[in-house]
Amino acid sequence: LSLPTVTASAPGKIIIVGEHFVVHGAYAVAAAIDRRVRVTVSEAGRNSFVTSGNRSSLLFKNDGQFSAVKAVARKAIQDCGKPSQSLRVKIASNIPSGSGLGSSAAVVLATAAACSKFLGQNFEKAKIAEIALLGERLVHGNPSGIDIESSLAGGLLLFNRNAGMKPIPIAQAMRLLVVYSGKKRRTADLIMKVAMRKRQFPSFFESLTRSASFLSLDMVDAIAAGDLPKVGALMNVSQTSLSWIGVSTAYLDRIIESLCEGGAYGAKVTGAGGGGSIIALAKPEETEQLLDTISKKYPESFITSIPQEGLRWED
Ligand code: MEV
Repeated sequence: LSLPTVTASAPGKIIIVGEHFVVHGAYAVAAAIDRRVRVTVSEAGRNSFVTSGNRSSLLFKNDGQFSAVKAVARKAIQDCGKPSQSLRVKIASNIPSGSGLGSSAAVVLATAAACSKFLGQNFEKAKIAEIALLGERLVHGNPSGIDIESSLAGGLLLFNRNAGMKPIPIAQAMRLLVVYSGKKRRTADLIMKVAMRKRQFPSFFESLTRSASFLSLDMVDAIAAGDLPKVGALMNVSQTSLSWIGVSTAYLDRIIESLCEGGAYGAKVTGAGGGGSIIALAKPEETEQLLDTISKKYPESFITSIPQEGLRWED
């Protein structure tokens, strides 16, 4: 006899242009990636708990483990009006955590979706996103919401804190190289570092925020036109702004340099920076070769398309 379970999955994301500035009101462009997080919810014995790999922690224990997931599961239980229900929340992910690829957003989103469905509620996606954002706030401090929106919607999107998100149709399939530097970091720390830069150099920061919006709108046009050299050039310009606000590092700069020397049209930090991951765009026929070369030093690198599917419930 198998117990009933509900599984939801959600993709990770890359930010193509506008990370950090999006927190301060700029437009940004993000895309879902071919890596997903799966969360399976089932009935627990006496106590609710969260598991991932061989780690496990009680849902109502403040031991610092899975804190965002726990907050989201507790909120789902509360909003579903089933406080006495015990849950087992099992996470399986092939997105490295702390890699800048949106694993935390994907986990909290899939958790909100799986818990609420298991508890008998068919919440709208907007409500699920709202529950998930609670968890993101716990981890990131002041998230713009772009990670949750990309993971929810899938595909390519233009996002702004006030205007919300707009899906962007992709005329031509695009594949990007993702290089995980292996250096974990906390998004909240980088968001704080950038806020300090903003206080130090308010007008310079303001002009960078405005140019991030222009770059984002140009990026949408370049992608729509399938103009890969231009997409790459815009990525390089965006990398310069990220360096100026202190979220690149010498270590990341060297990876970017070697990708560009290897023939990429462009390469940049993606997400919060300070470590984490880099994305690069190369000629389609040279992408595999570039992956082979970079994988020798960064074995967790991969090629991703921009999958159209966001959050989904699995059978
Ligand atoms: C993290 O993926 C993107 C940041 O801009 C933070 C955010 O927008 O929430 C650094």
